Amino acid sequence: MTMLERARDVPTSSAGQSERAAASLHEVAITYHLADGSFYEAVAPTTLAIAEGEFVALVGPTGCGKSTLLNVVAGLVAPSSGTCLIHGDRLSGINGQAGYLFQAEALMPWKTALANVAVGLEVQGLPRDEATERARSWLGKVGLGAFLQRYPHQLSGGQRKRVGLAQVLARDPRMLLMDEPFGPLDAQTRAIMGDLLLGLWQADRKAVLFVTHDLEEAISLADRVVIMSAGPKASIIGDFPIHLARPRDAHDVRLQPAFVETHRAIWQVLKEEVLKGYAQANEAKA
Ligand SMILES: Nc1ncnc2c1ncn2[C@@H]1O[C@H](COP(=O)(O)OP(=O)(O)OP(=O)(O)O)[C@@H](O)[C@H]1O
Ligand SMILES: [Mg+2]
Repeated sequence: MTMLERARDVPTSSAGQSERAAASLHEVAITYHLADGSFYEAVAPTTLAIAEGEFVALVGPTGCGKSTLLNVVAGLVAPSSGTCLIHGDRLSGINGQAGYLFQAEALMPWKTALANVAVGLEVQGLPRDEATERARSWLGKVGLGAFLQRYPHQLSGGQRKRVGLAQVLARDPRMLLMDEPFGPLDAQTRAIMGDLLLGLWQADRKAVLFVTHDLEEAISLADRVVIMSAGPKASIIGDFPIHLARPRDAHDVRLQPAFVETHRAIWQVLKEEVLKGYAQANEAKA
């Protein structure tokens, strides 16, 4: 068996397996209605399952529909057709079992790092003292123990992302949905954040759907890398298991020959779509 095989055999799309999946999309298609009365068929019928404890990265060219699919799992976008199951139950409305980390910052500028994390726990019903203690503990785990009383504008971009990560993880969601969470950071800081995420994830292995357009980031973090084609009617065109040992160092793993081989194989599939994506964006502008 080669080091990297297409995940055709990975039991993600059979109905029996997906009942046990943390999240599964069955023939989910999304058509957006535009203001001028026309339609845009963003995503063609798509089937994808994320197993319990599995870290899946979704990669594709800009505008292909990655955020759209993630938002379906989050319950923020309703499929035009098809179904989304969360732990076997049909999702209608917001997915309350998911912690969601957006690319955009979601911190309250008038609250300290500690208060930003604690407030989400209080909303969940935790008494204030307990919420503050748990927030303090999680900020320690993301390396911000000395920055509890800082306001967001007094933190670096990477530190703000750490607060965001603590905010989401402190609530102990059953699954994590991450949409280019480290997007605005420089490459080095992203790798450090990736490593931090892996370290924390390793402790209790929640199911993760991680959207990124950075293939290296995807391979360094994930158990499976799923590739989407350029839209319209985007679909999944590749599903690759990543056979790199865990625990992994999200930075050092990139130096391994197996990583390079994996990257080369997936890039062959992705490259064409990225070029199509750019061409379509240019046509749209013309
Ligand atoms: N609310 C909306 N109404 C109409 N079209 C939309 C809407 N949201 C997204 N789209 C379109 O659907 C397609 C997919 O968008 P989506 O945001 O899912 O892409 P993406 O893969 O996350 O891209 P990026 O990598 O740039 O974040 C795009 O062509 C986008 O313009
Ligand atoms: Mg997006």
